[in-house]
Amino acid sequence: MPSNSKKTTFSIIPAILAHSRAEFLEKLEIIRKSSPKPKLLQIDVVDGKFVDNTTWGTPAQIKALQLDIPFEAHLMVNNPEKAYKRWITAGANRVVFHYEATKDPIGLAKGIRIAGAKPIMAINPETNINIDPLIFKVINGILVMDIHPGFGGQKMLPGTFKKIRALRKAHPHLKIEVDGGVNAKNMQKLIDAGANELVIGSAYYS
Ligand code: DX5
Repeated sequence: MPSNSKKTTFSIIPAILAHSRAEFLEKLEIIRKSSPKPKLLQIDVVDGKFVDNTTWGTPAQIKALQLDIPFEAHLMVNNPEKAYKRWITAGANRVVFHYEATKDPIGLAKGIRIAGAKPIMAINPETNINIDPLIFKVINGILVMDIHPGFGGQKMLPGTFKKIRALRKAHPHLKIEVDGGVNAKNMQKLIDAGANELVIGSAYYS
């Protein structure tokens, strides 16, 4: 995989979507041994309600692992307002919440910041980017879902590149994270479209 782009710098964020402690630790070990070691990893948190899947790892269980790599918690859960503080207490540097899961994204982003983490807002493939512009003033970045959230190993949906290009045009300095179906074949195109951070699940471990 390329480590740099001609046009812009970017980073790779390995994602851990695990159904058991053993799977979590197995993926963590691969990340730990990779070179260069990533500066951030993503922990996928799925509650079986926001989307139809579940993941291993409560905030207390993750905290007990004493991770030596900073992480963001990707909350694919209903009522992220009730969950984010526990994840920050568990050590999350960034909290990714879903625009679709909250009635008050601005209030939630402010709450995350006050609690000591950086707020990143995720948008699902069907969510239009013409949202309240004030949101962009309170978040540290946006996460564009290239797939329907909840499961790894899916193929990137059409429309992804167009959406990233439009976001980059409207927000030249916005941190744009992309998640879902990212692999060695499409990453350069994503970077060229304007993405800064590539979240990689299955392709990272294959
Ligand atoms: C899916 C998660 C992703 C997932 C990515 O909802 O947000 O982080 O683990 O996996 P791949 O790269 O396989 O699509």
